[in-house]
Amino acid sequence: MRYLIVILYICVLLLYLNEADIQCTKAYSIICYIQGQSISPTNPFIIVNSNQTKASSVIIFDGQMPIMPNTIFLNNPQISTISINSMNLQQIAPDNFANGGNLKSIIIMKGMIKTLGNGTFKSCTNLLQLQITEQQISFIDINTFLGLQNLQILVLNNNQISSLHPLLFNPLISLSVILLQNNSLNSLDSTLFVKNTMLSGIYFAGNSITDLSNDLFKNQNFKSGSIDFSYNYLTTAQSYGASTINFSFNKLKTFYLSSGESTINIRNNFLRKIICPNSIPTVKRLYLSNNSLSNFLCIRDMHSFQHKTHYTI
Ligand SMILES: *[C@@H]1O[C@H](CO)[C@@H](O)[C@H](O)[C@H]1NC(C)=O
Ligand SMILES: *[C@@H]1O[C@H](CO)[C@@H](O)[C@H](O)[C@H]1NC(C)=O
Ligand SMILES: *[C@@H]1O[C@H](CO)[C@@H](O)[C@H](O)[C@H]1NC(C)=O
Ligand SMILES: *[C@@H]1O[C@H](CO)[C@@H](O)[C@H](O)[C@H]1NC(C)=O
Ligand SMILES: *[C@@H]1O[C@H](CO)[C@@H](O)[C@H](O)[C@H]1NC(C)=O
Repeated sequence: MRYLIVILYICVLLLYLNEADIQCTKAYSIICYIQGQSISPTNPFIIVNSNQTKASSVIIFDGQMPIMPNTIFLNNPQISTISINSMNLQQIAPDNFANGGNLKSIIIMKGMIKTLGNGTFKSCTNLLQLQITEQQISFIDINTFLGLQNLQILVLNNNQISSLHPLLFNPLISLSVILLQNNSLNSLDSTLFVKNTMLSGIYFAGNSITDLSNDLFKNQNFKSGSIDFSYNYLTTAQSYGASTINFSFNKLKTFYLSSGESTINIRNNFLRKIICPNSIPTVKRLYLSNNSLSNFLCIRDMHSFQHKTHYTI
C-alpha cells in the first residue's frame, strides 16, 4: 500500500512536471536562458522555474525547435526580447507572433527559414528591433512588415535575398538602420526607401548590385549617416551626402562627392578621378588604395584632410 502511494505520488509529479514545461537552464533576474532543449510546437510553452515565470528576455539556443509553438507569447505575454539561435528553425508561421504585442526585440539566428510571409509581425506594433540572420531567406512577401511602424532596426544579413519589392519597406516609417549584408541583391528600386525618412544607416555590403539610382535616398537627410555598399559590382556611385561612406571593392570608374562627408572608403576600385564640388572641407579620412587615380584636383581641395595618417594610394 505504501509503495502504491509512493508510485502514485511519483506519477502525479511526473504529470505535473511534464515534458511540455520549459526549464531555464540558466537564469539571471529577468533573463531566462534555455539551452539544448527540444521544444515541441504542440505542447504549451510554460516556463517552470520558480522566479523565472516573469522573465522578460528569453534566449533559446543550441537545441531543436524546427516549428515554433504559438503559445510562447500567449503564455508569457511579459516577454519583450526573444532570441532564437541555432534551433534548426525551419519557418515562421503566420500566427507565431500573434501575441507579440509587448515584444521590443526579435532576434533569430542560424536557422533554415526560407520565406517571410504577409502579416507575420502585424501584432508586434511595439517592436523596435528585428533581426533574422544566417537563414536561407530568398523571398519576402510584400506585406511582411505590416504593423511595424515603430521598428528602428532591421537586420537580414547572410541570407539569399535576391529582390526587394518596391513597397516592402513602406510600413517602416521609424526605420533608422537597415542591414542586408551578404545577400544576392542585384538592384534596388529607386522608390524602395521613400517612406523611410528616418533612415541614417544603410549597410548593403556583399551583394551583387550593379547600379544605384541618384534618387534612392532623396527623402533622407544623411548628415550624420553611414552608407556601406562595399563588395558589390557598382561602376559609378555618389556619396548621397552621408558622413561615412564605403564603396570599397566595387568596379567604380567614377565617384561623385557632394558635401558633408567625413570618412570615405573607396579602395579597391578602378577610379581614375573623383568628381567633387569646388571645395569639400569636411573630409577627414580617405581610403583610396588600389585605384588608378591620375587626377588629384578634388583631393587637393580637401582642406581638413588628415594626410599623413589616412591617405593611402
Ligand atoms: C530568484 O529570486 C531571488 C529573489 O529575488 C533572487 O535572489 C535569486 O537570485 C533568483 N534566482 C534566480 C535563479 O534568478
Ligand atoms: C501577400 O499580399 C499581397 C498583396 O495583398 C498578395 O498579392 C499576395 O498574394 C499575398 N501573398 C500570399 C502568399 O498570399
Ligand atoms: C559577409 O561575408 C564575408 C565573406 O564571407 C565575411 O567576411 C563577413 O563577415 C560577412 N558579413 C557579415 C555581416 O556577416
Ligand atoms: C567600410 O569602411 C568603413 C570605414 O572605413 C568601415 O568602418 C567598414 O567596416 C567597412 N565595411 C566593410 C564591409 O568592410
Ligand atoms: C590591393 O589589392 C591587392 C590585390 O587584390 C591586395 O592584395 C591588397 O590587399 C590591396 N591593398 C589594400 C590596401 O586594399
